[in-house]
Amino acid sequence: MTHFEQVDKRRLFDGMIDPSLDLFTEINRLKKEKNAVLLAHYYQDADIQDIADYIGDSLGLAQQAEKTQADMIVFAGVHFMAETAKLLNPNKKVVIPDLAAGCSLADSCPPDAFKAFKDLHPGHVVISYINCTAAIKALSDIICTSSNAIKVVESVPANVPIIFAPDKNLGRYISKQTGRDMVLWDGSCMVHEIFSEQKIVQLKAQYPQAKVIAHPECETAVLNHADFIGSTTGLLKYATKQPYESFIVVTESGILHQMQKAAPQKQFIPAPPNNNCACNDCPHMKLNTIEKIYLCMLNETPEINIPAHLMQPALKPLKRMLEISAQAGL
Ligand code: 13P
Ligand code: SF4
Repeated sequence: MTHFEQVDKRRLFDGMIDPSLDLFTEINRLKKEKNAVLLAHYYQDADIQDIADYIGDSLGLAQQAEKTQADMIVFAGVHFMAETAKLLNPNKKVVIPDLAAGCSLADSCPPDAFKAFKDLHPGHVVISYINCTAAIKALSDIICTSSNAIKVVESVPANVPIIFAPDKNLGRYISKQTGRDMVLWDGSCMVHEIFSEQKIVQLKAQYPQAKVIAHPECETAVLNHADFIGSTTGLLKYATKQPYESFIVVTESGILHQMQKAAPQKQFIPAPPNNNCACNDCPHMKLNTIEKIYLCMLNETPEINIPAHLMQPALKPLKRMLEISAQAGL
């Protein structure tokens, strides 16, 4: 970010933030003073990733939240991720820099409609992707993330039918990988559905040596062009550890920061969306800023709270996911 952009951003917080403060120093001071931990998803802006205590994908963040000794969790991610941290830490304070940081995928699955859908398929085990609200988690048997979805599906006996929600693209991909027929909820992520198959094909022609790496939230037509498909952490590991020099990266652009940091000699080409906007930036993730992180740590608000009646039912399938992941060494 340029100096002028920074000054411009600061103006939004006129009167709330002393302009002479160095917010990186202040955030580090508040972490110590309040015994707070700053957890950030890979889709956060680079400056947030650089000041976080832990950066990870949805599974890594849930595992960190489960084991943290901090008194306060500051979640630089979206609402369902902070909710997950709260479910795992009912007695700790969990704050999020911007309460409006939602998720199109979580929004695509309202609890009443999902309950009716579930009732139409009695006897099915419900596996829900972690990108859903606490109310949906409470209606589920096991939670999964893109890192452990195959193991979670395989944990269900072969003769038991499965509902997979809310991401139909991930569900379709996992169904193909495991050979399990699943009833899919019709939800999707606005960021991963925007990639243009045609532009990816053009890029492949332009960079014939480049490996195409994609997140399983993308549509099948896009995934069909991928050399490797994986969760955010899976993509990072593949891109940095495999002996290839260039990659067309088909996921949210935030991950490129860690790829470039880990392998500065390699080339990472962000896959283009199907129009001219910066749509491979998640608008929800990008609501968080350093200024908002500072203010939420200082004021300990906005705080994440979950209705009491959802706490236990939503925690149970989440714990099951963490057990399966631990058994699988994930
Ligand atoms: P992972 O963190 O599991 O890769 O999921 C990506 C995502 O869309 C998070 O919102
Ligand atoms: Fe939700 Fe997609 Fe944004 Fe992830 S990238 S938070 S799934 S809208």
